[in-house]
Amino acid sequence: PAERAALKDKIRRLLKEKNAVMVSHYYVHPDLQDLAEETGGIVSDSLEMARFGRDHAATTLVVSGVRFMGETSKILSPEKRVLMPDLDATCSLDLGCPVDEFSAFCDAHPDRTVVVYANTSAAVKARSDWLVTSSCALDIVKALKDQGQKILWAPDRHLGGYIQRETGADMVMWGGSCIVHDEFKAFELEELMHEHPGAKLLVHPESPAAVVALADAVGSTSGILNAAREMDAKTFIVATDNGMMHKLRTLNPGKTFLEAPTAGNSATCKSCAHCPWMAMNGLADVARVLETGANEVHVDPALGLRARVPIDRMLAFTA
Ligand code: 13P
Ligand code: SF4
Repeated sequence: PAERAALKDKIRRLLKEKNAVMVSHYYVHPDLQDLAEETGGIVSDSLEMARFGRDHAATTLVVSGVRFMGETSKILSPEKRVLMPDLDATCSLDLGCPVDEFSAFCDAHPDRTVVVYANTSAAVKARSDWLVTSSCALDIVKALKDQGQKILWAPDRHLGGYIQRETGADMVMWGGSCIVHDEFKAFELEELMHEHPGAKLLVHPESPAAVVALADAVGSTSGILNAAREMDAKTFIVATDNGMMHKLRTLNPGKTFLEAPTAGNSATCKSCAHCPWMAMNGLADVARVLETGANEVHVDPALGLRARVPIDRMLAFTA
């Protein structure tokens, strides 16, 4: 604890010295979430992380999350310095959608509007017409469908399947998945629901269809937080990364939050859902990158300009 407190003090001092602000995702360690908020930064879902970083006056952004989040910040703010605690923090959706194969998939469907999830590389974003996050994907695909457009969707097949079922849009899909949400199991979940009658189930749409089908509310990380605040229940079962529990519990002290069961082969803890790449973010690395300027995110400027077009469309749609 003494070492953590000293690191936090050091980070507070360095943020001021370097004109920097922290932008953290809900899945990173509670220390990085609390410190971001306390120092004038933000803890939020991937859509609001992007918007906050773009609009903030700081000249350096310290993005705690995974690689695509740092890249999106850099694309939106090429003039800012974007640092990440660990540049190897990636995402199975990004890894599973290499740009060459993705481009060939797009070339095979030239009549379709290309809608790409934020959890992708800058190169994949640059090949898309629209970027979406889980908090706006449904509304954007609905609007495109109403305009008579057919969709090419990538890379998360569960989120894509959920949107297809909800909107009835004509969608061809890439077959990617999130290794964390893919692990939630409907059978074990139903057993837990029977043990807690009256509990409401909150599900992130990267989860399999059988899990989504049981949900009382389906939403992005921010959507899950809103649902927990608004729904009239004492107990909630939550099917998303357990980093989310910190905010859920601190913002709803009178309510109980239980983790949905998984297959039990998480890389970071036994039988819990926690993203191994989100777990790579730590206090010591935040202090180190602020001090040394290491781990700067670079995006080729020409590629960044192309990737920015679909990101700007999403931000304008959700403004
Ligand atoms: P959100 O956009 O809901 O924050 O999700 C990002 C993510 O990586 C979920 O696994
Ligand atoms: Fe990617 Fe899943 Fe980790 Fe989110 S939780 S960063 S989707 S692997």
